[in-house]
Amino acid sequence: MKADQPAFLLSEESLRHSGSTKWLKFPDDVLPLWVADMDYAVSPAITAALQKRLSDGLGYFQYHRPEPDMAELLRDKLTGQGVTDLPEGAIRTLPGVVPGLYASVLGLTSPGDDVISMTPIYPPFMSAIADHGRRLRAAQLVHGPEGWQIDWEALEAAVTPVTRLLMLCHPHNPTGRVWTRAELERLADFALKHRLYVVCDELHADLSFQGPHVAFVSVNPALRDRTVTLTGPCKTYNTAGLGIGAAVSHNLDLLDRMAKATVGVMGSPSVMSMTMWVAALNGGADWLAGVMAQLASNRDLLTERLRAELPWVRYTPPEATYLAFLDMRAHPRASDIQAFLLGEAKVALNDGPTFGAGYEGFVRLNFATSPEILNEAIDRIVRACTTVPA
Ligand SMILES: Cc1ncc(COP(=O)(O)O)c(C=O)c1O
Repeated sequence: MKADQPAFLLSEESLRHSGSTKWLKFPDDVLPLWVADMDYAVSPAITAALQKRLSDGLGYFQYHRPEPDMAELLRDKLTGQGVTDLPEGAIRTLPGVVPGLYASVLGLTSPGDDVISMTPIYPPFMSAIADHGRRLRAAQLVHGPEGWQIDWEALEAAVTPVTRLLMLCHPHNPTGRVWTRAELERLADFALKHRLYVVCDELHADLSFQGPHVAFVSVNPALRDRTVTLTGPCKTYNTAGLGIGAAVSHNLDLLDRMAKATVGVMGSPSVMSMTMWVAALNGGADWLAGVMAQLASNRDLLTERLRAELPWVRYTPPEATYLAFLDMRAHPRASDIQAFLLGEAKVALNDGPTFGAGYEGFVRLNFATSPEILNEAIDRIVRACTTVPA
């Protein structure tokens, strides 16, 4: 990396030798811009805390109670997002956010129940519903000149007599939408009207380009009784390999039901993951500010180059996250566009249909990398898309 570049940028060589799923899944000639890890070294505050934990001697790796600091730090953070008045026991650690998605489906619904989510959506939302005999009622978002919007009619139409749960993602993966306060209030009205429980995955909350995050549960006090918020550090601090998250609710009964439904299979987060989360919450802010500046610059780079060089790609720049959901349906190979780009451009992206039915021709591109790698990937995509087959 160049001397004037941020210290967290890693070279392609070091990324390929890191043992990461992202970099090792595909052959060496492929640039991997798929799974939602960032190509950035973690905050020095995190590495220092993990090293200290290791060097502090024996006795640190037994069964461990949750770090008391962690609950306090999280409580403060959530207060900043409008989640106030949490009772004792309202923050329960998880070994990850996906286990929280599954636990909420298992604990808050019964086999045969319907669950609503807005597609396209992060795939484990759909598997959490389908894997245990519940049925997804998908309300597709609409992509128009105003960007990705909620289709309120589709949402109403999705409700059935056996719909129990609404699964929200805020900010939304893969579109990068940050639901506005007005949208959150209308979603609250919808959930209350139909007496739905709500699980809101807010894992990407810190990655908003729009300013401070507004938690869904904060927009209407009546939601407190029926909402579980899922959060964690792994998207913000690039620590997915350490595995930790939390389920938060004012209604402890909902958390108890989730725990009961997964007793014996949920597992606990590791001591090292708790050390990491505390360190991140205490000392990760400067690093995160640098990362957000890099992500904003990469997003703008992608936006400008797509507009200039592939104007037929429909794309609304994300308001949060480092994920770009590209509508490439105008391409002749739209039906297998991910395979086409993997084979012809040597760029690995996530395939649209994995985010829900109806997203053939879409791909998700992860731009949390260096400008060099991003530019090279765009060069390759542009070349593959403009080369006329012989
Ligand atoms: C919305 C969302 N939820 C959950 C996860 C995964 O969380 P975890 O690794 O903590 O299970 C991701 C990962 O990309 C995500 O985007």
